[in-house]
Amino acid sequence: MPTTPTTITTYDNDTHRDEVVQLWRSVFGYDTPHNAPALAIDRKLAVYDGLFFVALNDDAVLGTVVVGTVMAGYDGHRGWIYSMAVDPNYRGHGLGSELLAHAEEQLAGRGCLKINLQVLPGNGNAQAFYEANGYVVEERISMGKRLFT
Ligand SMILES: CC(C)(COP(=O)(O)OP(=O)(O)OC[C@H]1O[C@@H](n2cnc3c(N)ncnc32)[C@H](O)[C@@H]1OP(=O)(O)O)[C@@H](O)C(=O)NCCC(=O)NCCS
Repeated sequence: MPTTPTTITTYDNDTHRDEVVQLWRSVFGYDTPHNAPALAIDRKLAVYDGLFFVALNDDAVLGTVVVGTVMAGYDGHRGWIYSMAVDPNYRGHGLGSELLAHAEEQLAGRGCLKINLQVLPGNGNAQAFYEANGYVVEERISMGKRLFT
C-alpha cells in the first residue's frame, strides 16, 4: 500500500538497476536467457532513447524504492510498450495507469501517432488494465523471428 505519493522518473542505472531486476524477477518470473532482466536493461540503455521509466515511492522505513516500471520504444512509425509492472503491494491505486500515461506522453512528444503492445494469452488482468486505459484488441496475427538463440 503506498504510504506517500509516488513519482515517475526516467530510469537511472546507478540508482534503480538492482530494484528493477528484483521487481521484474518477482513480477514476470523470466525463464529464458534473452529475457534476463539485466540483459534487457543493458540492451535498452544501449539505444539511448530515454524511454525507460520507473515509479518511486518514498517509504519512511525503506527509503526511496522502485515500485513500478514501464519501457517504451519508438521506431519513427509506431510506439511500443513493454515491461509494464507494478509491485503487487502497490497495485489497484492507479499507479500502473500513471506509468502508462507517462510513457504515452513521452511517445506523443516524439511524434508517435499510435502505440502497439502485446499481451500473453491468459493474462486477462493485463488485458483488462490496458482496456481500462483505452487500448482495444485489434485483429492481427502477431509474428516474430529470433535472430539469436
Ligand atoms: C497490470 C498492472 C501493471 C496494473 O497495475 P495497477 O497499478 O494495479 O493498475 P491501475 O491501478 O492503474 O488499474 C487501472 C484499471 O485497470 C484495470 N485493472 C487493473 N488491474 C486489474 C486486474 N488485475 N483485473 C482486472 N482489471 C484490472 C481496472 O479497471 C483498474 O481500474 P480500477 O482500479 O478503478 O478498477 C499490474 O497488475 C501488474 O504489474 N501486473 C503484472 C505484470 C503484467 O501483467 N504486466 C503487463 C504485461 S503485458
